[in-house]
Amino acid sequence: MISQHRREGPIVTLDGPAGSGKSSTAKAAATRLGFRHLDSGALYRALTFGLLRSGLAEKEWAALGEEEFQSLNIDLETTEHGFQVLVAGQEVDSELRTPGVTEHVSAVASIPASRNSLLALQRRTGVDGRLVADGRDMGTVVFPDAEVKVYLIADLKERARRRLKEVGECSPDNFKIARQAKALDTRDRSDTQRSISPLKKAEDAVELDTTGLEFEEQVQAVVDLVARLTLF
Ligand code: CDP
Repeated sequence: MISQHRREGPIVTLDGPAGSGKSSTAKAAATRLGFRHLDSGALYRALTFGLLRSGLAEKEWAALGEEEFQSLNIDLETTEHGFQVLVAGQEVDSELRTPGVTEHVSAVASIPASRNSLLALQRRTGVDGRLVADGRDMGTVVFPDAEVKVYLIADLKERARRRLKEVGECSPDNFKIARQAKALDTRDRSDTQRSISPLKKAEDAVELDTTGLEFEEQVQAVVDLVARLTLF
């Protein structure tokens, strides 16, 4: 007889472009629901950090195979509310948000072998359900059978303002906003146009435009959706 593993609760996916508020919304919604949070972008950042640290020339990265990406030894340690990213056994946090990592991460994420090297690790986090996972392909590729899928969008300028606020720039001038918007747009183009797992809305995802929403309102919108779609 085939025994099917039953999850203890739903999987909720949040996908969307850079700066749409996915990670912070996913984290807060997970806390509210008593679920764990998976920040899948942190895994691509960890691979990028590992590659930069290895000293391997950037032009060699695209030719690497899945085993070579595996040898960078990216792992997740389960914590109370989510997962701690490890690179070769070492905890990494601020290392993943440096300008160097941000500049190269989209290129690394568009290499098929890099994506394949992270697939099983990501799926393991959802084995028991009770997970809120955010990224670009959570609802389309990693957890296609998730019970709740959200696609977050927001106006580009608004996303740029939010990103600047995160780094302490609370009243940026138009020049700074335009420069930040250009950087986000470049990354969005790379993420939506790549051939493997491009950023796109899953057919069964609910689109949530956060442009005019306060942070608290967007968290509540996700929590309400989970309640409505899963009776959780
Ligand atoms: O938070 P932010 O939008 O800056 O990015 P992130 O979620 O940390 O992801 C960084 C990069 O990783 C994205 O620009 C994508 O290129 C890639 N990524 C991906 O390809 N697939 C995912 N599931 C998550 C991130």
